[in-house]
Amino acid sequence: MIELKNLTKVFKVGGRELKALDGINLTVPEGSIYGVIGSSGAGKSTLIRCVNMLERPGSGRVIVDGQDLTQLTGKELRLVRHNIGMIFQHFNLLSSRTVYQNIALPLELAGASSQEIETAVIPLLDLTGLKEKRDSYPSQLSGGQKQRVAIARALASKPKVLLCDEATSALDPQTTRSILGLLKDINRELKITVLIITHEMDVVKTICDRVAILSHGQLIEENDVESFFLNPKTELSREFVCSAIHQKPAAEVESRFQSEPTEGSRPVVRITFVGRRVVEPLITRAARQFGTDFVILQADIETVHGKSMGFLMVEIMGEESDVEASMTFLRDNVQVEVVGYVS
Ligand SMILES: Nc1ncnc2c1ncn2[C@@H]1O[C@H](COP(=O)(O)OP(=O)(O)OP(=O)(O)O)[C@@H](O)[C@H]1O
Ligand SMILES: [Mg+2]
Repeated sequence: MIELKNLTKVFKVGGRELKALDGINLTVPEGSIYGVIGSSGAGKSTLIRCVNMLERPGSGRVIVDGQDLTQLTGKELRLVRHNIGMIFQHFNLLSSRTVYQNIALPLELAGASSQEIETAVIPLLDLTGLKEKRDSYPSQLSGGQKQRVAIARALASKPKVLLCDEATSALDPQTTRSILGLLKDINRELKITVLIITHEMDVVKTICDRVAILSHGQLIEENDVESFFLNPKTELSREFVCSAIHQKPAAEVESRFQSEPTEGSRPVVRITFVGRRVVEPLITRAARQFGTDFVILQADIETVHGKSMGFLMVEIMGEESDVEASMTFLRDNVQVEVVGYVS
């Protein structure tokens, strides 16, 4: 649906060149919700702005719905942009216009009649839960309501693609959840492909199907969300995953933590499990079978992409051969990784 091929963007700042995007290749499948995460300055906004040509890429191709946007004239581009809605972190509403008039704006600009506008706007007010607010002004709305108006406005021209740049980072957790729920409904019911830029792993965890990580203008990792959480491949993705599962060993352990084993040290193991494994008594089984003891340092069960996923950090105590046997038993059933040792 969206294909970026070898996309590059260089900014010239004070005689120096800054590579904001460096050879990005990325495919967003039709009907999916695709997340791009990265730290501040990684190039996320530049990337999403290239998808609708708000930013002209230096080289490479941007293909949306089979059409290479880099080849289009200004007029052709304006037409194609009706297929691409966009929402922003700070909503970008017109303060002098009511909710209804804000949503109607793209249709007005496209020359629609007031009857056509009404036919389009009324269902959008319903969809976004803004019926009661149709005549309010942006200053009279909460942040969540403002973002709902921005979403309705982005949907007014019946786009096939919705681009969201940090659409929830100005909102509190509860409002974020309701906006993410709305985006999911829009994706499912209107069959709109959604590309979400975010630095919040919670967004990825809650609604995305696939995810890519951007770092210094380069796409360093890409995967379906479940595999990404289960098996992050780079240091940065590991950090993002840990931020989402609040995984940090207890302070008492951290001070005793060492990266290499020493005489009498015990392994600290991260165990990740999905689906039905979450409800299986694997730890107690290992303990009984091999006579080992487990100290739970951290534990969390999260819903990732609609599935339960467990994250556990344990210290395993016992005879060396029994500890090894416990780990082999666990490895046969769940994902196990030695993250360090304590003594
Ligand atoms: N118009 C511009 N002119 C010059 N440099 C720019 C321009 N826009 C972005 N940059 C630079 O390009 C890099 C990527 O910026 P971008 O806004 O894409 O980052 P981001 O990942 O969206 O960050 P954030 O999470 O803070 O929004 C940054 O170093 C930024 O300073
Ligand atoms: Mg940004």
